[in-house]
Order: sequence, then structure tokens, then C-alpha cells
Amino acid sequence: MEKNTSETIKKLIKASHEMKRKSYCPYSKFRVGAALLCEDGTVITGCNVENASYGLAICAERTALTKAVSEGHRHFKAIAISSDLKTSCIVPCGACRQFMVEFGTDWDVYMTKPDDTFRLMKTGELLPFGFVPEALEEERVSQMA
Ligand code: THU
Repeated sequence: MEKNTSETIKKLIKASHEMKRKSYCPYSKFRVGAALLCEDGTVITGCNVENASYGLAICAERTALTKAVSEGHRHFKAIAISSDLKTSCIVPCGACRQFMVEFGTDWDVYMTKPDDTFRLMKTGELLPFGFVPEALEEERVSQMA
């Protein structure tokens, strides 16, 4: 943990670590926890949820985002992600990066290690040249073909 990390972010990282306990990962045994800081200060957590039909697994980040949106939150400041990887920071998968940029390209992703150290990047840095909601507002050619 860096010296000037705010108390709010320290708590967010702790909450993401704690969420690993809730992880449902009987197939991969790879626990992931996430904690999302909403613009109004609310923290919403999530864990990965796997399934006997392997491809249906949902990542911790998307669990947290889906919980948050369904509770009325659409503006986010940061997300912290935790796993049990000893020497590497956990990084979000491509699907989760796409899910994050849906809600803005300029909010913070804390990719942590169990010792509380982290790598910090913006959502847009993690998915450069991403497909964002504004694309659907742009002028389109006629569909007459
Ligand atoms: N997983 C996450 O929940 N978040 C990530 O950032 C990477 C991967 C989950 C999906 C699956 O349950 C397990 O980790 C192994 O891929």
C-alpha cells in the first residue's frame, strides 16, 4: 500500500479481500473479490460465481457492477479487485473491462495483491479503443441494402 493511499481506498481494498470468502469457485478454486466505490460513497461488493456449465461463470467485478446498477448506482469512483495470487496483481478479464467502460473511461481500478500492494489504472487505460455507449448515438448509414 502506498503511503498516501486514502483511508477510503484502504477500506475498499480490505472489503475486496474480505469478499474472497464469499467466492463460489468449486471448479477453478480461484477466489476473486471486488469492492466498488460509488460516486455517493456507497460501497458495493461482489465475488465470482461459477457454474457446472463452466462458461456461465460470472466474475467478481461484474457481480459488483450488476449489484450496484440494480440498486440504482451508475456513477463510480473506483473498484478494488483481489485474488490469492501471491506475486501478481489480479487483472480484470476483457469482458469485465468492457463492462467497466460502459460506466466511464476515467475511473480507478485498483488491482491488488494479498499483501495490499496494488497497481492503479483507469478503466479507459485498461480498454483503449473500447466500444462505448456514445457509439450508439453516432450517425449511421441507411440500412437499405
Ligand atoms: N475471475 C474474476 O472473477 N475476476 C477476474 O478479474 C479474473 C477471473 C474469475 C472467473 C472464474 O471464476 C475464475 O476467476 C477463474 O477464471
